[in-house]
Amino acid sequence: MRFKGIIFDLDGVICFTDKYHYKAWKALADKLGIYFDEEINDRLRGVSRMASLDIILERSEKKYSEEEKLRFAEEKNELYRDLLAEMSPSDISDEVRKTLSALRERGLKLAIGSSSKNTPLILKKTDTAKYFDAVSDGNNIAFSKPDPEVFLKAAGFLGLKPEQCLVVEDAFSGIEAGVAGGFATAGIGPASQYEKTDYPLNCFADLLKTPIE
Ligand code: BG6
Ligand code: MG
Repeated sequence: MRFKGIIFDLDGVICFTDKYHYKAWKALADKLGIYFDEEINDRLRGVSRMASLDIILERSEKKYSEEEKLRFAEEKNELYRDLLAEMSPSDISDEVRKTLSALRERGLKLAIGSSSKNTPLILKKTDTAKYFDAVSDGNNIAFSKPDPEVFLKAAGFLGLKPEQCLVVEDAFSGIEAGVAGGFATAGIGPASQYEKTDYPLNCFADLLKTPIE
């Protein structure tokens, strides 16, 4: 068998939280008088919370202290979590659920590899924890994507080596992290157009057609 495990990014692969991140960052940017739009929001895919804030603050004339930045990030996260509270199992498509079940039936081990510290909340609200044998997320890493740490930890939790796992990502930074860790990569959405992606996917169910076995 080519792969024994698949490591999935969460935001933009399993579920679509971009709109909530956007709303919450936009509210903060508006409050600080900083220009922010959906194109800038796209640059935040896969990037940690503090690194995302730094990208937003690139357009600020004012320099902020570390303490102020931590406060801004906390403020954004509170608003983001209020929006996540509205999520439910219906936020995960049938296509994603059926594909995950089919991959498990084929004997593959599945894990989450996400930069988000809100991963446990999202998995709970959407009732998706049951599909995964392991979860590696923003709570167990020191370095965010494009560093490979989150995926290396996920592979370790599964008891597998990087070459035995496929990483599924929507973000360029996530594909970079996969490559840096020695993983094969599958790309969905923006990452399907990225030259470093090994397996471009048109849709999530395409994973079943990818030579994973
Ligand atoms: C990633 C998202 O999954 O998690 C990023 O793609 C986000 O946009 C990052 O900034 C960190 O998320 P959180 O929930 O820890 O603020
Ligand atoms: Mg993502």
